[in-house]
Amino acid sequence: MNNFDYQTPTRLIFGRDVVNRLTEIMKPFGQRILLTYGGGSIKRIGLYDKVKSLLKDFEIYELGGIEPNPKYTQSVVPGVKLCKENKIDVILAVGGGSVLDCSKAIAAGACYDGEPWDVITYKAPTLAALPIVDIITMAATGSEYDAGGVISRPETNDKVGYVDPHLYPAVSFIDPTYTFSVPLKHTLAGVADAMNHIMEQYFSEPSTILNDGFMESGLRSLMVNVKKIIDNPTDYDARAEIFFTCTLGCNGIYSLGSGESGWPLHAMEHALSGYYDITHGEGLAILTPRWMKHVLSEKTMGRFASYGVNVFGIDKTLPQKDIAERAIQATYDFFKEIGIPMTLGEVGIDNSRLQEMAHHVAVNEGLEHAWIPLTEQDILDIYTASL
Ligand code: NZQ
Ligand code: ZN
Repeated sequence: MNNFDYQTPTRLIFGRDVVNRLTEIMKPFGQRILLTYGGGSIKRIGLYDKVKSLLKDFEIYELGGIEPNPKYTQSVVPGVKLCKENKIDVILAVGGGSVLDCSKAIAAGACYDGEPWDVITYKAPTLAALPIVDIITMAATGSEYDAGGVISRPETNDKVGYVDPHLYPAVSFIDPTYTFSVPLKHTLAGVADAMNHIMEQYFSEPSTILNDGFMESGLRSLMVNVKKIIDNPTDYDARAEIFFTCTLGCNGIYSLGSGESGWPLHAMEHALSGYYDITHGEGLAILTPRWMKHVLSEKTMGRFASYGVNVFGIDKTLPQKDIAERAIQATYDFFKEIGIPMTLGEVGIDNSRLQEMAHHVAVNEGLEHAWIPLTEQDILDIYTASL
């Protein structure tokens, strides 16, 4: 078991109607709030009006229209400007992971004198950030319980993961009823994203019985509950269990003491959504079984076999190689069955820029140090197999 150093300062307030406590929770942070949100879903579900009414005695500034795959120039830069000009005390992010990630970059940029891109790309250290409170409305990224954000800059095809302890939200409100309205496409993509967060931690060594069990049950929970909400989108208990499993996904708690995998699927997917602005979870689902097939070897077979037995219930008396191959096929079949597009072609990506993306990933993501190292050619092969 490896050493670790773990602290999560985020307070989680979970359940039906918890947002009614917003006024009391916001008070200690100050009077001047930047309210951030996306393209309109929070208005359609009545949450915007509710927040405005709960915060009627505060001074509210707004940044709406934050895009999925939030953009540096269009959203982070104006947000930083608003914070600096209006001496904002706290950011209240209301929306999905994109809104929250963007708010994290704004929070850090607002406390930095130079170009915010410098802190996002670690050219300058993050020495402070404004406090962030969020009402997360989409079960997927786990941004509500982690110290990371992902920011896109299409001008340079960059989609950059930015992680720093200053970015932990101070408080996250998680009311599963807000996810009832998430379109099926994004519900499925969110589940695929969370499953992938677990897999990125599961497929590494060393691991422990404790962590393996925790992650295997996380995967089973997501797979069982997503089928319930496909049939009944307002199944509260299924939505709630999915949400909490997602919340734990990127916080590191699933793999304390385990080895680092290098998160190869996220590195490869961020190029897909950086170049083509596709939905992150769909990109991950497409790449996952192709990556698994590509890295299946004597070294990895044992991990894939445990995954096959404990997540999919494959007969443990079969030869390990058989179990591993069946597990990879079962992963593909599951995503396909729930309705996720499973080829790059279906999400609008052809072979014209695969080489360029593989080069971008190989140069920028350090996958030569992953649990299973990947060269530029490996990355290209995985992209090609995903067409
Ligand atoms: O923009 P609005 O109108 O709010 O609509 C959003 C958006 O169109 C909609 N939506 C969200 N909540 C809704 C809703 N629609 C109806 N009802 C609701 N309650 O869903 C769409 C997608 O939202 P988005 O925030 O983009 O989704 P998600 O939460 O999956 O976030 C994706 C972003 O997070 C990054 C991804 O790369 C991507 O940029 N990631 C962040 C991570 C992190 N911070 O730890 C880790 C992840 O691996 C991931 O990379
Ligand atoms: Zn992800």
